[in-house]
Amino acid sequence: MSIEGKKRVVTTRRLREMKQRGEKIAMLTVYDYTMASIMDTAGVDIMLVGDSAANIMAGHETTLPITLEQMIYHAQSVVRAVKNPMVVVDMPFGTYQGNSKEAVHSAIRLMKESEADAVKLEGGRDVLESVQRILSAGIPVMGHLGLTPQSILKFGTYSVRAKDEAEAARLLEDAHLLEEAGCFAVVLEKIPAALGKRVTEELKIPMIGIGAGRFVDGQVLVAHDMLGLNRQFSPRFLRRYANLYDAMQEAFRHYVKDVKAGCFPDEKEQY
Ligand code: KIV
Repeated sequence: MSIEGKKRVVTTRRLREMKQRGEKIAMLTVYDYTMASIMDTAGVDIMLVGDSAANIMAGHETTLPITLEQMIYHAQSVVRAVKNPMVVVDMPFGTYQGNSKEAVHSAIRLMKESEADAVKLEGGRDVLESVQRILSAGIPVMGHLGLTPQSILKFGTYSVRAKDEAEAARLLEDAHLLEEAGCFAVVLEKIPAALGKRVTEELKIPMIGIGAGRFVDGQVLVAHDMLGLNRQFSPRFLRRYANLYDAMQEAFRHYVKDVKAGCFPDEKEQY
């Protein structure tokens, strides 16, 4: 909740004003209380409780297996920590595709049980009815176009999307449809920078890119990737701001060494 003196200060209206002022929007994924507490102090505008939790937290190959209950659990953990940023929660695969009644039911559960600020759905025209129905229940919706990981099995590749003209035109139309429906922002994943620029210029609502170039209104990264906790995933768009894999491995090794050598705990660390 964030309106007038309540808890969180980043609102859908504020994001639109940021776009109008040309102020960039910083968004990161987060799935747990401790990381959300740290992020909350760093000036992040939007925290995304992404369904990438399926990969990062649970070790699944795709985002498909994560359930509504698991997303609610992650969202609750994040919301408990957050003061300023807006908290957006991904609707998991199977909770909105092809059934707008189920979509609104799932979105209401996410909002009621986690107290997050908004939901995110993947897709354009194919999920428009669900988007409209969720919006008509008063729930803010963020769209997601380009590479949509919940459809990965259909496409069979994580390669750059909308490289040819027909696909680019379709993406642009989808972005317009989402804006007209009332979405407050759209994530653009892994598309050419020139297309990211065009969509951003044509639309009034903010476009948040991940691998969509520098001309969009904001950027999102998976926090575990930008912290260098993940060694396998190295797409071109990923900038690593830390090397926590090595830092953590070193700490674990040091601890094991101390325990084996009998030098942890020492005199001061016992009762
Ligand atoms: O779940 C996720 O991490 C996402 C980002 C890639 C935007 O949707």
